[in-house]
Amino acid sequence: MSLKLGSLNVAVITSPEAAREVLRTHDQILSGRSFPNVVRSINHHDISITWLPPSSSRWRLLRKMSATQVFSPQRLEATKGLRKKKMKELVRFMSESSEREEAVDISRASFITTLNIISNILFSVDLGSYDSEKFNGFQDMVIDVMEAIGNPDAANYFPFLRFLDLHGNRKKMKDSCESLIRVFRGFIDAKIEEKSVRSNPKDVMDALLDLTKGDEADLDTNDIEHFIFDLFTAGTDTSSSTVEWAMAELLGNPKTMAKAQAEIDCVIGQKGVVEESDISEMPYLQAVVKETFRLHPAAPLLLPRKAESDVEVLGFLVPKDTQVLVNVWAIGRDPSVWENPDRFEPERFSGKEIDVKGRDYELTPFGAGRRICPGLPLAVKTVSLMLASLLYSFDWKLPNGVVPEDLDMDETFGITLHKTNPLHAIPVKKRTVT
Ligand code: HEM
Repeated sequence: MSLKLGSLNVAVITSPEAAREVLRTHDQILSGRSFPNVVRSINHHDISITWLPPSSSRWRLLRKMSATQVFSPQRLEATKGLRKKKMKELVRFMSESSEREEAVDISRASFITTLNIISNILFSVDLGSYDSEKFNGFQDMVIDVMEAIGNPDAANYFPFLRFLDLHGNRKKMKDSCESLIRVFRGFIDAKIEEKSVRSNPKDVMDALLDLTKGDEADLDTNDIEHFIFDLFTAGTDTSSSTVEWAMAELLGNPKTMAKAQAEIDCVIGQKGVVEESDISEMPYLQAVVKETFRLHPAAPLLLPRKAESDVEVLGFLVPKDTQVLVNVWAIGRDPSVWENPDRFEPERFSGKEIDVKGRDYELTPFGAGRRICPGLPLAVKTVSLMLASLLYSFDWKLPNGVVPEDLDMDETFGITLHKTNPLHAIPVKKRTVT
């Protein structure tokens, strides 16, 4: 589908065949980024791994840095114990709510868990707290950034309106970005001080700061601040809303929840805690995660790409500078691709090789090709582990007499897809929590 929005040409991709052409065959030409006007507010477009074009040597450096320093298999293996610890804290928090028979905001709890996993991988500190008194508003700031990026904005289509900020999006973005970057700067400064007395690298931030040393260094601390900003904004809300949707679907489909729990119980038994290595023995849980990505992809249009030159896709000309949106939300619900597309049926994946790693174009919630989400390995581990831990330790009830059939599944679209009304559910302890 092709749209003309003001001065912007937009091509919307809604079939696996066309997605394959964009994300694989013509990936090199279509890997540019068409960035929303708000991103200019802190000059993020000039520095950011998310918005720089692939022709930029800085983008290549940032991608290399994320592959080698942040998401390498060795780094992920080294931080396995940390994720286990964060799961224990999540389960302990749920257990306390269970004792009070209190409904929990699932998105908020999984946001804190993801936030603390990422902040510990990066700077060995907890940025979030389950204690609402101590909660520092980080989730609100991240959501403000996502909303500012995703909000309709005439300046995206009429460049001459850029400086007027008619919708207030630029101001909202600037305020939230500056607040977030101020938080990161505090940690980076503390790290620099700590490193002056201890030279061996301990976490990712130590390794990143080593790359800023010397007169020939390709990066400075400003680059690192923006890089960290991208990891937090891209990684927290996406992972937590996926867990929220999975729990909402399972609460709406009690038989599916029971089947997933039976599998987890069978693998873990009385061990007391789910570990990452157990997940490979849980094909049904993995299918639940895939089914959640199919129906509720956290980035429903991926991130906007841009044609770097004219290119022909399935016989249609896509002119240079066209914005290209891959509508993975629509592909996930297309009846010509999926049987009973609106039903949550993890069984559809049993015995099938189909995965989310960017090779199966009917299911690409993380994109594919050059711009595939670099956080994919961490995200899949975190989402699966959170879900398995919640299902292993607790049974779940809906509050206020809501029955599964009445559970609302309304969606709010932005750059990310949210549940309009946050899911609240009551955990009921199944076993003693250590
Ligand atoms: C469920 C969780 C997640 C989903 C569904 C998701 C999805 C995506 C998607 C669709 C893209 C754009 C891909 C494209 O243009 O083809 C993307 C990019 C990105 N993601 Fe993720 N993501 C998730 C978690 C994470 C995590 C945990 C991190 C890091 C901690 C992360 C960091 C990034 C970054 C930095 C980019 C920009 C890459 C670039 O443009 O070169 N994401 N993600």
